[in-house]
Amino acid sequence: MKVLVLAALLLAFQAPFVSSAADYPTKVFKLQRHNQLPAGGMRVVELPLNGTGEYLVHGPYLTRVELGNPPQSLDVLIDTGSSIPWVACRSSHGLSTRHFNTAASSPTSLACSDHSCQYMAGTNFAQCNGSRCIYDLTYGTGDTPTSSSARGSYLSDVVHLDGVSAQIVFGCTESSSGQLANFSFDGVFGFGPYHMSFASQLFSAGIAARVFTLCMHSPTGSGLLAFGEAVDPGLVYTPMLPSQDYYIVNLQSIAVNGQTLPISSSVFRPSTEQFTFFDSGTTLAYLADGAYDPFVNAIRTATPPSASPFIDSKGQLCFVTSTSIDLSFPSVELHFAGGAKMKLQPHNYLYHSQVKESTYCIAWFRNAGRQVTLLGDIVLVDKVLVHDLGNMRLGWADYDCSRPVNITSSPKKKTISSGQGSRIVSTSTAIALVLTFYIIISF
Ligand SMILES: *[C@@H]1O[C@H](CO)[C@@H](O)[C@H](O)[C@H]1NC(C)=O
Ligand SMILES: *[C@@H]1O[C@H](CO)[C@@H](O)[C@H](O)[C@H]1NC(C)=O
Ligand SMILES: *[C@@H]1O[C@H](CO)[C@@H](O)[C@H](O)[C@H]1NC(C)=O
Ligand SMILES: *[C@@H]1O[C@H](CO)[C@@H](O)[C@H](O)[C@H]1NC(C)=O
Repeated sequence: MKVLVLAALLLAFQAPFVSSAADYPTKVFKLQRHNQLPAGGMRVVELPLNGTGEYLVHGPYLTRVELGNPPQSLDVLIDTGSSIPWVACRSSHGLSTRHFNTAASSPTSLACSDHSCQYMAGTNFAQCNGSRCIYDLTYGTGDTPTSSSARGSYLSDVVHLDGVSAQIVFGCTESSSGQLANFSFDGVFGFGPYHMSFASQLFSAGIAARVFTLCMHSPTGSGLLAFGEAVDPGLVYTPMLPSQDYYIVNLQSIAVNGQTLPISSSVFRPSTEQFTFFDSGTTLAYLADGAYDPFVNAIRTATPPSASPFIDSKGQLCFVTSTSIDLSFPSVELHFAGGAKMKLQPHNYLYHSQVKESTYCIAWFRNAGRQVTLLGDIVLVDKVLVHDLGNMRLGWADYDCSRPVNITSSPKKKTISSGQGSRIVSTSTAIALVLTFYIIISF
């Protein structure tokens, strides 16, 4: 089994919340449209997803971008759990089959004095080496088996997507290590809320309002990435907490077969060290330590006797069963702030062991010692997922992602913040957090 964890590794997952609108650079990106705009708004930019089918049955989810002039085709991983877009600039490090050939385009090196470099340096995404703006990015959950890194220098060049093009800043990776070396894609495009993420740079370029939709189909790995908001009657939304690093939501409780699990309310209470986030760059899921045992015990208790449980060599609970898991295992529901619920099927928390026939194991791992929950692809597949930075909310609806999705490029403003953003009050012994409260008004 190949497992990929592409969550930007912060200092032990600490202090991800931003205290106020950050001091963003004001670079003006050039945008050219090759297609005519329809009357009444922007055209929606849509990109198909193409999974490699390399791990389990789905993911990692890739999309093809055309970079440089003349355009070079590269398949990049869409990673909502990290902040920086980069492509491989060398084929020799085992990462990719293809790489960006800088000699065949005319990218400019990002100078250390450039305000984008200075901004990224201020948030630890860049360093200066002489006049060059370089990076050393680390991904993972902190335990060595799932961490990896990428190093290189920043360039600026044109990216072409579905008929539009924009000048962007991206990393040119010269070397990578860890898990990244075991997968074949040509780069990782960070789609996080951070101002220099791929999504944010496109929003700055005027491609869309600050909202994008992701729909990942399992098991084919196909699906859709669209700049704009999905239109679906089933969409429910929960407020997003202010963070420049992750799409953080307030998970409040978990129910198995309709019964709320006995998890201490302190486990999910958001703070700088406790939070729940969505991450398309991670294949499975990691549950807050304090929620893990109640969850696994409830699954075991609710499973029919025909499925015999055992603990595998990695310490995960597994079952041997010959019947369809979606028919015999319990349903799970995640309850978020504001009343939004996410209903999950057994295939969203169990994976089929490749070692033994008819064996399924719990695909949510314990985030040992941390009250951080990471919802990766296994949870996020087969839904439209709306990342609405303009209105600071995340939305989802069950969806067959092999079908077309209705997207609007001109979503209405729907959320009103009654607060002042979060404030992080930090002393040497205590970290307190005042969260913003949102009133969601539906029109
Ligand atoms: C999807 O990926 C497969 C295997 O990596 C490749 O052969 C195929 O050309 C890709 N299709 C598209 C539309 O990118
Ligand atoms: C900085 O640049 C020098 C000279 O090009 C190079 O030898 C060195 O490895 C670079 N350092 C880093 C951290 O990339
Ligand atoms: C790469 O995959 C092999 C075989 O699955 C595994 O033994 C190795 O530990 C992996 N390497 C990394 C860095 O994850
Ligand atoms: C998409 O929008 C069209 C036109 O408004 C509508 O007829 C169609 O049913 C919608 N499709 C879905 C899947 O919502």
